[in-house]
Order: sequence, then structure tokens, then C-alpha cells
Amino acid sequence: MSGLRVAVIGSGPAGVYAAAALTRAGNVEVDVLDRLPAPYGLVRYGVAPDHVKMKSVDVALRRILEDPAVRFLGNVEVGTDITRDELTTYYDAVVFATGAAVDRRLGVPGEDLPGSFSATEFVAWYSGHPDAELDLFTLQATHAVVIGVGNVAVDVARVLTKKADVLAGTDVPGHVLDVLAASAVTEVTMLGRRGPAYARFTTKELRELGEIAGSDIIVDPADLELSEQEEADVAADRTLRANLEVLRDWSTRTPEGRPRRLRIKFWLRPAEVLGSAAVSGFRAERTRLENGKLVGTGSVVDFPAQLVLRSVGYRVVPPANLPLDPDTGTVPHDGGRVLRDGTPMPGMYVAGWLKRGPTGIIGTNKKDANETVRHLLADLAERAPIEQAEDHHDAVEAWLRERCPDLVDQEGWEAIDAHERERGEPHGRPRVKVVDRDHFIELSRR
Ligand SMILES: Cc1cc2nc3c(=O)[nH]c(=O)nc-3n(C[C@H](O)[C@H](O)[C@H](O)COP(=O)(O)OP(=O)(O)OC[C@H]3O[C@@H](n4cnc5c(N)ncnc54)[C@H](O)[C@@H]3O)c2cc1C
Ligand SMILES: NC(=O)c1ccc[n+]([C@@H]2O[C@H](COP(=O)([O-])OP(=O)(O)OC[C@H]3O[C@@H](n4cnc5c(N)ncnc54)[C@H](OP(=O)(O)O)[C@@H]3O)[C@@H](O)[C@H]2O)c1
Repeated sequence: MSGLRVAVIGSGPAGVYAAAALTRAGNVEVDVLDRLPAPYGLVRYGVAPDHVKMKSVDVALRRILEDPAVRFLGNVEVGTDITRDELTTYYDAVVFATGAAVDRRLGVPGEDLPGSFSATEFVAWYSGHPDAELDLFTLQATHAVVIGVGNVAVDVARVLTKKADVLAGTDVPGHVLDVLAASAVTEVTMLGRRGPAYARFTTKELRELGEIAGSDIIVDPADLELSEQEEADVAADRTLRANLEVLRDWSTRTPEGRPRRLRIKFWLRPAEVLGSAAVSGFRAERTRLENGKLVGTGSVVDFPAQLVLRSVGYRVVPPANLPLDPDTGTVPHDGGRVLRDGTPMPGMYVAGWLKRGPTGIIGTNKKDANETVRHLLADLAERAPIEQAEDHHDAVEAWLRERCPDLVDQEGWEAIDAHERERGEPHGRPRVKVVDRDHFIELSRR
């Protein structure tokens, strides 16, 4: 097998790990396309800024993009700027790794009132995502409610509760730091619709909530009483056991009157975002399990709130007319080979959250991408590479530049990356992020 050309769509961990697996096979050229001018997907625009070690995964991802057989081509949206059919004329195979960035809805009245946001919007804002409005959050609210008890809910609750100065050494953009420094938020309440035995957060992440300087953590011991079934489920799972241990410890603490309070409450499901012109509160209905099914009790509790952050997970929206399996909520596939009506679509593959759905940590995407690439290479070994012009490399770039005049190529991204890191260095920060699309383009052309 020689001279294969593969396009990877999406430069998050799944896409970049797929590129690494392809280059390990040898004799494969990989173009990694992304709709954003900067690579790394949720590593850059999702992982919380204070998780500095986790964020430094970008160093390993950068090395992969620096491989001479790989090039990054940013600011190209597949399905909008270029089509799937066009890709098949330039590449032997296409690996889609576009993630699952669309937030799920609550489906309750008042969800769209001013002051009610998805965690996705808050995360994009504090991460300096180029699509996020700079002044989307003012944090004039004193009371915030976070819906959901997964790790993203933990991230947003922590960022809301932490003092701004402890984030100053991170890559949080300056305009975000200013708002966080002036934040009026004093009460943050996280609501889980089921009990603590079924919370989705992991223990390391949970534990951090109890270590925030200037904030009391408050858990109601009554919420931690478990049914026989819950006891058994907790006993069978190491993470759940450790979570319960942490929560029980907190439930015995007496608040010390610190400036901020973070409450975690369970058995409360969303009923309504209250308010007329803007959010003024959040109504939740008490719940219980009946034969393993979550049911409402009819009894409601109102929480004062001027800010509501909905952190109830993500969903896949397949790009470029790829199929969606309504049962799994993902692109139907067999080990990464995209299936339409049960039949493989030649040359089409998926990896990462697009393939598995919106769960799993960064590392999960490596094994997942490796599986996809193994099948891709096995398939391509069975057929001849497509006919390509000698100047394929330049032809692709010319085609993309014609469609996307603001294309950010590998060199352009390296210039942006160097600029960001240089700006960060004197302040002991990993980087100072460029946030404005025009600024990205300007730097990429220098
Ligand atoms: C808020 C948040 C915080 C997280 N924190 C952690 C953490 O601390 N530690 C951890 O291990 N995991 C964390 N995760 C999970 C981790 O980020 C995911 O497992 C991982 O990013 C999924 O990788 P992916 O490549 O499938 O998707 P993504 O990282 O979402 O990458 C998808 C890429 O595709 C691009 N794209 C989308 N559509 C198109 C298109 N049409 N054309 C071209 N490009 C497109 C996007 O711009 C993006 O760059 C977090 C997740 C979230 C949501
Ligand atoms: N530091 C890290 O490692 C890190 C950080 C962030 C994210 N991640 C990973 O990224 C993935 C996505 O995280 P996530 O937090 O978005 O998703 P998640 O783990 O699926 O959690 C979603 C939460 O929303 C709740 N929920 C869903 N629909 C709801 C509704 N209608 N009303 C009320 N609550 C509702 C869920 O409750 P139910 O359980 O009852 O459905 C759950 O508590 C996870 O795998 C996560 O571990 C990892």
C-alpha cells in the first residue's frame, strides 16, 4: 500500500489521535481540517483552565500535528464550505471526528429567559472560543443554579465559585478574568435529578469543590440516605463509593461563614425557570425512584437565582449529511466504518464523540481512534488508491483557499501558537489566547 491520502475532519483529541495512528502506518498523508482557526477541539475550548495538567495534553497533540506527514487546515467547515462528495475526489478516506458540541435542552418553561444559559455557552465564553460573544456573561447575579451533576457541571460550578486571582496564572482570557474578578456571585447551587448514588461526576473532580478557598461546601445529610438498592449499587462501584465518602464528609461540616457557598442538592428535577423579563428563580420538583424509574412527587422547591446554567450533557449533530441513529444518538458505524441503512459507506469513518456519543475522557479517544484507523487501513489495503494529481498537496490548498479565503494553514497556526505562548510567558501563563477571528487571520498571515 502506498501514497494514501486521508482527510480527518475535526482536530479535537479523536481527530489528532486518528492522524497519529494513520502516520504510524507509514506512507499516508493526513490533512486535519477544522471549522475553527485553532486546533485541539475541547482540549482548548472545553477542559477547564484551572486543570492545567490536563490542558497540557495540547503539547502531545501539537507534536502530532508537527509530523511532516500531517498538516492542519483551519477555518474550514465541512458541510458548509465544502461537501462530503468533494472530499472523496481528493482523499482515499475521510475520518469524521467532529465531536458532539450541541447542548441538550431541559424542555421546561422559561428555559430561554435572559439569564438562563447552557453550560456550553459559559464554557465557550471562559475558554475564549471565537464564536462566543465577549460580553455574554456579566456575573451580576448573586445566586446561580447549575443543573446536572456531571463533570461539566462540576467545572462550571467551580469556575463560578473560585476567586478570580487563582485563575490568573491560567489561559483564561483577560476579559473573562475581569468579569470573574468583579463577580457578584455568592451562592451556587448544583441540582441532581437523581440521588448521589447515580451522580455522574468522578471523585477527583468532585473533591476539588471542597477545596475552593473562600467557599463553604454544603450538602444535606438527608440527601445521602440510601435505599437498599442504592446501597448495593454504591457498594459495587469504586467511584460511587468514593463519591459518597466525600459527600458524607461534607455533610458533617459546619459552614464557616466564608464569602461564597456551594450547595450540592439531589432528588430535584427541573420544573421551570422562573421570571418574566429575566431569570428570577428556579423551580424544581422533588423526585424519587419507583421500580427503578425516576418519578416526580408533585412537591416543588423554588430557589432564588438570577443565573441558571444548564449542564445536562451534549448531543451529536452529524456533519455533511452523515446518518444519525436515533437510538444511540450517534452516527451508525461498525468499528468506525460509517453505515447507512446497515451498509458501509465506502471511504467514510467516524471517531471520538461523534462515534461513541458525548461521554468519556480525552484518553478514551485514543483507543477509539486507533480502532477506526485499523479498520480504515484494512479496507484501503483491499483497493487501489484513487488517482491523484502530482501536486495533490498544493491542489488541495488551492481548492480550500478558493472556498475559504481565511484558511489558517499549518504555518499560520504555528505563528498564532507562538504568539500566544510568547504573550503568556512573562506572566507565568501557558498562553494568552487569541479570541477574535480577525486577529487569528492577521497573525496567520504574518
Ligand atoms: C466542558 C468539557 C470539559 C471537559 N474536560 C475534560 C477534562 O478535564 N479531562 C478529560 O479527560 N476530558 C474532558 N472532557 C471530555 C473531552 O473533552 C472529550 O472526550 C474529547 O474532547 C472528545 O474529543 P472529540 O475529538 O471527539 O471532540 P472535540 O474535542 O469536540 O473535537 C471536535 C472538533 O471538530 C471540529 N468540528 C466540528 N464540526 C466541524 C465541521 N463541520 N467541520 C470541521 N470541523 C468541525 C470542532 O471545531 C472541534 O475542534 C471535557 C468535555 C467537556 C464538554
Ligand atoms: N475532568 C474531567 O475528566 C471531565 C470534565 C468535564 C467533562 N468530562 C467528561 O465529559 C463527558 C460529558 O460530561 P457532562 O457533564 O456534560 O455529561 P454527563 O456526565 O452525562 O452528565 C450530565 C448530567 O446531566 C443530568 N441530566 C441530563 N438530562 C437532564 C435533565 N433533563 N434534567 C436534569 N438533569 C439532567 C444527568 O443526570 P442523569 O444521570 O440522571 O441522566 C447528569 O447528572 C463525561 O463523560 C464527563 O466525564 C470529564
